[in-house]
Amino acid sequence: MKVEIDGISLEAQPDELLLIDLINRTGGSVPHVCYHPQLGPVQTCDTCMVEVNGHLIRACATAAVEGMIVSTKSTKAAAAQVEAFDRILSNHMLYCTVCDNNNGNCTVHNTTKLLAIEHQRIPFRTKPYEVDNTNPFYRYDPDQCILCGRCVEACQNVEVNETLSINWEDPNPRVLWDGGSTIGESSCVSCGHCVTVCPCNALMEKTMLGHAGFLTSLKKSALSGMIEVVKGVEPETGYGSILQVSEAAHAMREHRIRRTKTVCTYCGVGCSFDVWTKDRHILKVAPEHGPANGISTCVKGKFGWGHINSEDRLTTPLIRENGKFRQAGWDEALGLVARKLTDIKAKDGPDSVAFISSSKCTNEESYLMQKLARAVIGTNNVDNCSRYCQSPATVGLFRTVGYGGDSGSISDMEKADLVVIVGSNTAESHPVIATRVKSSHKLDGQKLIVSDLRENEMARRADLFLHPKPGTDLVWLSAISRYLLDSGLAHTKFLDQWVNGLEEYRKSLEPYTLEAAARLTGLSEQTIRTVAHMIAEAKRMCILWAMGVTQQSQGSDTSTAISNLLLITGNYMRPGTGAYPLRGHNNVQGASDHGSMPNMLSGYQSVDDPEVRRRFETGWKVKLPSSKGLDNHEMVEAIHEGKLKAMYLIGEEMSIVDSNANYVGAAFEKLDFFVVQDIFFSNTCRYADVVLPGAPSLEKEGTFTSTERRIQRLYQVLEPLQGCKPDWQIIRDVANKLGADWNYQHPSEIMDEIASLTPMSAGVNYDRLAGYKSLQWPVAADGTDEPLLYTKRFAFPDGKARLFPVSWIGPTDQPNAEFDLHLNNGRLLEHFHEGNLTYRTEGIREKTPDVFVEVSPELAEERGIQSGTWVQLISRYGKVRLRALVTDRVQGKELYMPMNSVESPVNRLTSSHTDPVTNTPAYKETSVHLNVLPEVGESPLPRINSRFGHPTPQNGVEVERKWKRPDYAPPGNGNGLVQLQTKK
Ligand code: SF4
Ligand code: SF4
Ligand code: SF4
Ligand code: FES
Repeated sequence: MKVEIDGISLEAQPDELLLIDLINRTGGSVPHVCYHPQLGPVQTCDTCMVEVNGHLIRACATAAVEGMIVSTKSTKAAAAQVEAFDRILSNHMLYCTVCDNNNGNCTVHNTTKLLAIEHQRIPFRTKPYEVDNTNPFYRYDPDQCILCGRCVEACQNVEVNETLSINWEDPNPRVLWDGGSTIGESSCVSCGHCVTVCPCNALMEKTMLGHAGFLTSLKKSALSGMIEVVKGVEPETGYGSILQVSEAAHAMREHRIRRTKTVCTYCGVGCSFDVWTKDRHILKVAPEHGPANGISTCVKGKFGWGHINSEDRLTTPLIRENGKFRQAGWDEALGLVARKLTDIKAKDGPDSVAFISSSKCTNEESYLMQKLARAVIGTNNVDNCSRYCQSPATVGLFRTVGYGGDSGSISDMEKADLVVIVGSNTAESHPVIATRVKSSHKLDGQKLIVSDLRENEMARRADLFLHPKPGTDLVWLSAISRYLLDSGLAHTKFLDQWVNGLEEYRKSLEPYTLEAAARLTGLSEQTIRTVAHMIAEAKRMCILWAMGVTQQSQGSDTSTAISNLLLITGNYMRPGTGAYPLRGHNNVQGASDHGSMPNMLSGYQSVDDPEVRRRFETGWKVKLPSSKGLDNHEMVEAIHEGKLKAMYLIGEEMSIVDSNANYVGAAFEKLDFFVVQDIFFSNTCRYADVVLPGAPSLEKEGTFTSTERRIQRLYQVLEPLQGCKPDWQIIRDVANKLGADWNYQHPSEIMDEIASLTPMSAGVNYDRLAGYKSLQWPVAADGTDEPLLYTKRFAFPDGKARLFPVSWIGPTDQPNAEFDLHLNNGRLLEHFHEGNLTYRTEGIREKTPDVFVEVSPELAEERGIQSGTWVQLISRYGKVRLRALVTDRVQGKELYMPMNSVESPVNRLTSSHTDPVTNTPAYKETSVHLNVLPEVGESPLPRINSRFGHPTPQNGVEVERKWKRPDYAPPGNGNGLVQLQTKK
């Protein structure tokens, strides 16, 4: 469509629904303070007034339409813009030179300059509120708050934590947390969305305060004095000259503040952002351009970086001598590693050595680790921690659709009409994915079904919450498949065209009648029928699942049942549909993609395929072993059996995160030689003979692959701490000490090698991943990637998917009279996994200081337990002592224990039972006995944890309430504000 702006005819692009986007693209200069492209029109600031057909309109809330004639500079428009901004300045004191937000991106500063404001007509007025410093990560200064409402919009409708609002009816409006609590005691989850989008210094990261500017660290009294001086000269000099001084201050900062793009080191969502640093001080994390997250983060990605400069960092290799560790130089330590591995290999053969790669390390590091195992030592004994969670989901997808990854992207989850979440605490384990589902559910009418043992946040929001008996998801999923097929509600056309194996599958469903399913799962027949009809009616359905499914003895089969259900309902091959096993660690997907698996080389190429081996043998110039190696679980058994003598493990806290931890620890004690590479002296290091200090993500280059198969580059934010090395360099150096001739000087060279040997990554290179660019595998040689898989065919030779029959057996480790309680476990929002990284961020420790066990109110009453009561949990495999938290998130005799503890880890209780297909431990199948101890302490979760807050859901910032204020009139002095077509 054609639109005329200031006399120039312009062509609007299809996505430029809003006039403001068109004006911005074409280099226009209309001020806009509250508008943010990722928030949409908020309409609180009125600074974007333009004239259309003689009427003033808000450009941010008006759809561009064919033939529109727009003036951004007419007298009427210009006057309205200035008047609107004048009102804003009455809420904000301009002291830019001594403001930590004066870094070139302050919207208030930049708009003052754009409008060439010299003097304020409406004087600045303080608000009768104190600064709120009660959150450990950020503070709110009401006096600087311009009431734009961006933060409210972000919290209500993007993060959907629904903490923030503005009391528009109050004589002195301000931003409120939970309607008037302190931030610290509110429901705020410290995700940082609000701080990220605040256009000025009203909301600031505490790490910025006193650190960003040259003069901003002055004492408050000195700062106030300087601010007074500035205000004093303003009537005479005007803002123009004051802004010149502040811009000089900003220019000086440019030389010492670095902004470097990285990818989050925690979960598999794959959030990316700029990290602002001054020397080694992390000023802030600034998300904006990340393809997975945009402005979104959770508390860990935004604020959880205390581990980087922790005093506990390992900074020198350690060698065990006479039962004690001593410091050693790199040369000595690597020499010892090479000597011992060579000796053990010579004596007991290459298969007496094993390697564990890290799902926190980069793709390039995982690739090198498996190359070290295969090409240098000559064994396929290599694995990574996807064995502990993701392998069953990968198998389920390999069996049915052909690729072991999410079938689409996060944007598909947003587009779905129905999202079904099975066994995933998405709001805490994959918080930014949860925001997308919460937002579509709140704003776009998306339906949500959650199946879980706990009533977690997603369950509370769901249209339907299912609480089946533990370990029975396969049953109700199969019963729904049968019901849909029997009732003619399956997608017959899709099945005919795209799916093999229907008859055999139909036969396998015979046992799963509604009656049998109700008996086995505890769900009513009517509930199962309701779910089936919701699924049948949805045009586009995504199913999300995680460890609640995969960490069961039938994790692979239940994952298969999920994919079967998607196939019979035709929910593949289209946007807004598909299978989404949510990957736990930042690079758990990439670690497997790049060959850290005992049976696969990079790109899921089988070690027993001679053609594949030939290609790698030519590339690596070695002879490769052809038989499958040991997986993590088998390695532990093999150590106990005396077959495995040496192990080299990177960045995994295996002695705590593997199931039946006591048994794993006992195995490590039997190793002849154990190398552990980590950034801290982890619990696993205690068993090591040599400890090598690696580098965290901010100190190295490389790539991570997120849950949506998205490969993204991380750039080096900081130099490695003195004494540490990026892990790829350490692996390279170990290989060279063992006689290899590896010359990699940069991870990009490793990626080039990967691309040359791996069809799935053929087109991946660092240029195509520069900055915020990303690729979602498979990537063809010309760089074409596949955000949505299977758009033309499934990944089998005939292009058709396969229904794969499975049958339910029932969980292991069932409760009995002695072990009478079921123990579930999983993540907490604030901590990552065992907490080795996150406990090193003080604010996180403050909010979530310790582990606990959740006890239902009914069980608490029966056993005389209150929050803070010390209890002992005893399973068939071990025991732990910890405090109870009474909560209705769990029911009856089901307990829940988060995994964030090194001292009392849940895996002292879990068993060695596994899913037989993948050897993934059945972590979720644990029965325990509970002893109530005499001591009663404080509640293990302090009052300042977000769980105790009281959110105030509303529809965004609700600007209409501002417009109803008696003292509000649109700027332009009644010049006829007209709302044209609004796009929200
Ligand atoms: S939850 Fe807290 S940090 Fe996140 S947007 Fe809301 S108020 Fe801000
Ligand atoms: S605190 Fe919120 S309302 Fe106030 S200026 Fe910042 S984003 Fe706008
Ligand atoms: S932990 Fe996950 S959701 Fe949170 S910022 Fe990092 S990648 Fe995003
Ligand atoms: S940018 Fe604030 S009302 Fe349009």
